[in-house]
Amino acid sequence: MSGPGRGGRHGGQGGAGKGGGDKGGGPKTGRGQVGATRGGPGGGPGGGSGRGLKIKAGTVKGRSASSTRWLRRQHADPYVAEAKAQGYRSRAAFKLAQMDERFGLLKRGARVVDLGAAPGGWTQVAVERCGRSARVVALDLIEMAPIEGAVLLTGDFREAEVRARVAAALDGPASLVLSDMAAPATGHADTDHLRVMALAEAAFDFAGEVLGPGGAFVVKVLHGGTEPALLNRLKLAFAKLRHVKPPASRADSAEMYLVATGFRDRPKAGGGPGGGPGGGT
Ligand SMILES: C[S@@+](CC[C@H](N)C(=O)[O-])C[C@H]1O[C@@H](n2cnc3c(N)ncnc32)[C@H](O)[C@@H]1O
Repeated sequence: MSGPGRGGRHGGQGGAGKGGGDKGGGPKTGRGQVGATRGGPGGGPGGGSGRGLKIKAGTVKGRSASSTRWLRRQHADPYVAEAKAQGYRSRAAFKLAQMDERFGLLKRGARVVDLGAAPGGWTQVAVERCGRSARVVALDLIEMAPIEGAVLLTGDFREAEVRARVAAALDGPASLVLSDMAAPATGHADTDHLRVMALAEAAFDFAGEVLGPGGAFVVKVLHGGTEPALLNRLKLAFAKLRHVKPPASRADSAEMYLVATGFRDRPKAGGGPGGGPGGGT
């Protein structure tokens, strides 16, 4: 296995998105090392695009201090180099690959929804691992360049019409709903937190509508106050719930993922499982 997709390189385009990442360390997955020949944790990137690049301290003319910091971090990050080397559109690809290797989420022939998919790293991994018979439907506010084997939709998930388009494109009950959605950071921690959690709750409501029995749900959340309410609803709706910080998620980020598996079948009449999802947004 050489990468998040268990092999294959990609004709990826676009860079690693600014919102895509977390923690340094090396491109490791749960069961095996991704791109072992290119260096790993502690060793730094042994190859890839980061080699030899130096970003000077201080700001570059016309560039803000925060974007200079971001650029410096990108160049020092082995996951960024590895994603580029393997043709993945974002370093975030490794997060999904690592969670899949731990929990076996991406099954051949699965019906997968990928919410907040741009630039497309998770979608690439889902398509590769689920195979040609799978259906992968990806949505983002931002238009994405085509990914062979995936249906790409553009729109705001908060709009009912957009959610209806995603559900229609699935063409049957989903086996996996992924949400890596993150609203652009405002710099105000409370506001950012509320926004991410609102998207997570909306994704959960949607998962409750489209998942088939036994399905799984993966959602990005942040540490903080409103989380327990969502956790309680998830516990009722799924047989198993875990908090996960994949190695590729940056340690200095509050980001983590909830991985819920074993979706309980909806009751025949009215409401979601145990008063869980199904109520819409
Ligand atoms: C961290 S990035 C996702 C990275 C992606 N998983 C990958 O592997 O490349 C978060 C994405 O969520 C999207 N997003 C945020 N709010 C959204 C919304 N309301 N509807 C659809 N997409 C949204 C953003 O446009 C952004 O592209």
